[in-house]
Formats: sequence, C-alpha cells, structure tokens
Amino acid sequence: MVPQELAAIVERQGRNRGCIILPIFYMVDPRDVRHQSGPYRNAFRQHEQNVDEETIRIWKDALNKVGALKGWHVKSNDEQGAIADLVTGVVWSHLTKNNNVLEIDKLIGIDDHVEAVKESMALDSPCMKIVGIYGMGGIGKTTIAKAVYNNVSAQFDRCSFVENVREMLEQKDGVITLQKHIVSNILMVNIAESIVNNSEGIRAIRDRVSRFKFLVVLDDVDETFEFEKILGNMENFVSGSRFIFTSRNIKVLSMLADDIKLYRVQEMSHQHSLQLFCNYAFKKDIPPSNYETLSNDIVSVAAGLPLTLKVVGSLLFQEEEEIWRDKLKQLKEIPEQKVVDRLKISYDTLNEEAKRIFLDIACFFVGEDKEIAFYMWSDLGFFPTTNINILNQRSMIGIVVAGSRKKLIFQMHDQLRDIGREIVRQENRRHPWKTSRIWSKEKALNVLLNKKRYNNFEILKNLNMEELGTISKECFMNLSELRYLDINVSVLIDDFGDYIPNLRWLRLRNGPSDNFNVENLVILEVSSFSCTRVDSGGLKQIKV
Ligand SMILES: *[C@@H]1O[C@H](CO)[C@@H](O)[C@H](O)[C@H]1NC(C)=O
Ligand SMILES: *[C@@H]1O[C@H](CO)[C@@H](O)[C@H](O)[C@H]1NC(C)=O
Ligand SMILES: *[C@@H]1O[C@H](CO)[C@@H](O)[C@H](O)[C@H]1NC(C)=O
Ligand SMILES: *[C@@H]1O[C@H](CO)[C@@H](O)[C@H](O)[C@H]1NC(C)=O
Repeated sequence: MVPQELAAIVERQGRNRGCIILPIFYMVDPRDVRHQSGPYRNAFRQHEQNVDEETIRIWKDALNKVGALKGWHVKSNDEQGAIADLVTGVVWSHLTKNNNVLEIDKLIGIDDHVEAVKESMALDSPCMKIVGIYGMGGIGKTTIAKAVYNNVSAQFDRCSFVENVREMLEQKDGVITLQKHIVSNILMVNIAESIVNNSEGIRAIRDRVSRFKFLVVLDDVDETFEFEKILGNMENFVSGSRFIFTSRNIKVLSMLADDIKLYRVQEMSHQHSLQLFCNYAFKKDIPPSNYETLSNDIVSVAAGLPLTLKVVGSLLFQEEEEIWRDKLKQLKEIPEQKVVDRLKISYDTLNEEAKRIFLDIACFFVGEDKEIAFYMWSDLGFFPTTNINILNQRSMIGIVVAGSRKKLIFQMHDQLRDIGREIVRQENRRHPWKTSRIWSKEKALNVLLNKKRYNNFEILKNLNMEELGTISKECFMNLSELRYLDINVSVLIDDFGDYIPNLRWLRLRNGPSDNFNVENLVILEVSSFSCTRVDSGGLKQIKV
C-alpha cells in the first residue's frame, strides 16, 4: 500500500470515530511499519528526495499509528484460508457487535445461578473447561444458560448457542446439521456446503474452529450426544475455550468428560416461586389479599418449577375463585414427580380447535412462520386468531420476531413440545399407524408404502420419496383427511388431487410436478417453480 492511501485512511478515521482500521501486515513486520525500519528505511530515503517534509511527517505518523494497531501478521508460510477466516470473522463481528444477545424469559433470582455457573467456568483459567448444567425439564436450565451466555460472551473471540440439540440429533443427518451450525457460528460464514459427513465436520472443527477462544453452549443434550463423534478429540481444544452443556440427565453430562464441572439447578425458593406465579396470575409481584392463601397453596404444589408456575399462573389469570379451587384440587391429586401431568391440566382445558393447533405446533411448527400456518387453520375453521391468542396467554406457546425479514415464528418450551408429541403418540397406542400426525422421516415413508392404511392422517412431514423414483397416484390412497403434506419427490406424474381433497398446505421440496388439481389448497410452497398448472380454488400463498 502506498503511503498516501494509508495517510488518507488514518486521516479519515481521525474525523470519524466510527471507522475501524483492521490492518493486515502482509509479509511485513508490524514493527518495521511502526518505526519505518527494515525495507521502509530505504523507501523513505528515496521519498525524501522529491516529497516535502510536511508530507513525509504525515506519512510517518500514519505508519506509526497503523503499525501499533492490533491486526494480522501474515507470514510467507501462513495458510491463506486461515487468514481469510480470521478477517471475515472479525469484520463481521464488528458489524454485528451488539447482536450477540439472546432474548430470555423472566426468571426470578437468576443472578445467583449466573454467578455460580460463571464460577464453574473459571473464566480466568487459560485451559479448556466444560461445564454441565442439569436439572429437571422446566426448571430453567435454558434460561440460565442464555443469561450466562449474554453475560460472558464478550470475553470470547467467538460464540455459538445451539438450542434443542436433542431434537436436532433426532433428525436424519442431525450430527452434520449440528456440526455445520457450530462451525458456521464460530467462523461467522456459512460453510454448509463443505461438510458432507461427520468426519469432515470433525475436521473443520479441529482445523478451523479450535484456534479461536470460543464459547459454545449446547442446550438440552441427552444420551444421543457423543462428544468425540460430534466435536472430535477433546485435546484439540487448547485455548481458553469453554463448552456449556445443559441436560435433564446428570449421567449424560458425567459421561461427556472426566473433568466436567457440574451445576445443579435447584428448585426455586417459595418466595421467588410466589413472585413468578403472581407475575403470570395477576401481572403483579404479590397476590391480592383475598387470593393470598390460594396462591400460596398452588405455589406449594407447583414444586418450585418455573415452567409449571408460569403455565398454571397463566391458566388462572382473570379466573374466578371457583376455578382456582378446582385447579388446586386437581394439582394436589397429581404426584409431585409427574410434572408432565401437571402441565397437561392446561392442555385439557383447551377447546378442540386450540388443542389441534397446539398439537400441530408441537409436532411441526416450532420455529415456523406464524403467518403461513395461520392460513391453513383459518381455512379449516380452527379460529386461529382467538386460539393462538389463548395458547399464548396460557404460556403454552411463544411468538417471537426472527430473522432479517422480521417474521413472527412459533416457539414452545421443549417440555411442552414433548407433551404435545406424546399426546399424539398416545392417540392410538396399539396402532401407531393410526395416529394423526407423523413427523419422522422413516415413519412418514412407511405410511405411504404401507398397504394397510386408514383415513386418519392429517399431517405428513419430512416425506422423502426421492429415492423411490416415480410415484404413482395409488400412493395417495386413503389419505382423505390429509391437510398438510411436506414432500420431497422427483416426479409426480399423476394428478393425485382426487385422493387428497382436504389438503390445504403443500410443501413441495425439490420436485417438478405437472398438472395437479387440489381443490382446497390454500398454501403452496415450492422450492423451484416448475409447476405448470395448479388448479385450486382459494390459493392464498405461493412461496418460491
Ligand atoms: C454480568 O454480570 C455482572 C453481575 O453478575 C454484571 O455486573 C455485569 O455487568 C454483567 N455483564 C454483562 C455484559 O451483562
Ligand atoms: C467424507 O467425505 C470426504 C469428502 O467427500 C471423503 O473424502 C471421505 O472419505 C468421507 N469420509 C467418510 C468416513 O465417509
Ligand atoms: C384403503 O382402505 C381400504 C378399506 O377402507 C382397504 O381395503 C385398502 O387396502 C386401503 N388401501 C391402502 C393403500 O391403504
Ligand atoms: C430430497 O431428497 C434427496 C435424496 O434423498 C436429497 O439429496 C435432497 O437433499 C432432498 N431435498 C430436500 C430439499 O430435502
């Protein structure tokens, strides 16, 4: 770089403090830049022949300033890719500096937990450390992990928070998805394409991720999480990096590493519990005097679990005393350890349509756009405006703004999601193929290949028929109740519309398809727009 340019950059930064200079010392020693020694000495001797003194002084000042800045020193034997990773990452982190904050739920008394976890992390130690946070579902592990993340992330070069690891690993190629997620977060570039199998993932983590001082939080792991198979050899992580895991199961955490520091999340104190409960039941910190005894009784049976307090509190919001007594009685009948059944009280009080919407979200629509699902429920007469509102008020779902397009997406606590899925599994215990909703890839395919089928499926998701080649119309027999179909198929030749007259939402991945006629369809999503003719009455949304 010629000194005029450098001087101009420095001058510009002097005028605008928002400018950041990130120098790359390419095959030069920063000390030589700073003191104009080495190759610079000769160069300046020549400049002095034909440039005035004042300009020379400005140039020298600029070199001095930039040479003192923290930057990258690229030596001849450095790997170019590594430098690119570093530079893009740092530039990106400057651009997104304040976005590294996770939104968290209200959790009373959280500061003590954060302090305790930070202590286990031994933030001053130069070694790698692993911390495990454990406790039962609904006790607030995720919230605590997020609060810790928000509090300490600035002390690390790179950070990644992965929610719902257990769920991610249940999916096909879950390990690769998880690896891609971590690598992309840490490198701050999307490298999805370059990881095709586990060993590639481990290699990327070893070669590219491990050189940063990072914080990686893996939320909700279970026995399907195997450290070595996902992250590689622990010895690879040498710097002051930290891993935080959360789990319902202490055994899972102890198996992860010999020297893992464990932190147990204790039940909330009665005082804190009462405050949290009142926040939801009265939107106040303390109960009105006529509800004091009832509130205390309910808080006692909710056993210090924030999720239960929140769900039960929301359920009783603005309800009459009679209902309170009723619910208290119900709660008392359920043994303490049956947390799920206590939460299910809230589900049981819902109307039919709200129940169906709740189950749809639990099985399929966590993280999905509220708007789109809304069209389907609306067309089916599920009164989504009212019912989504009810679910939200009852703290059974959350709706958050996400992504650059600021769309609204559904959220659900994993414990509630598990309850929803369990309800669906129990619909017909002895005949699993008689349940209404199918979300696993293997099961979805089995359903279509099974010759014995009943008209009970409402939703099929993750149906991958690519490998089967051409699909005949007969595959869609006995699916007359189907309302949502998410399918990956190469060719759909026949018009299968007759067989699925109630389909409202079709998500076609991949496949080109011709001529289909689905009378009631309201949402069609296609990844490549190759449908030549779609006949449908009230199509509302086409997403390409
Ligand atoms: C982290 O928590 C401590 C107190 O526990 C607080 O003083 C500090 O400001 C917090 N830092 C951030 C970045 O939130
Ligand atoms: C993973 O993918 C790479 C690159 O395609 C390949 O060379 C390697 O053999 C694969 N490893 C395994 C274990 O499949
Ligand atoms: C569809 O249901 C009928 C009985 O209602 C049954 O005889 C037939 O085998 C079923 N077909 C498929 C493909 O499941
Ligand atoms: C569809 O299935 C094929 C074959 O299994 C797979 O390679 C492809 O990634 C799938 N496409 C989508 C969008 O899931």
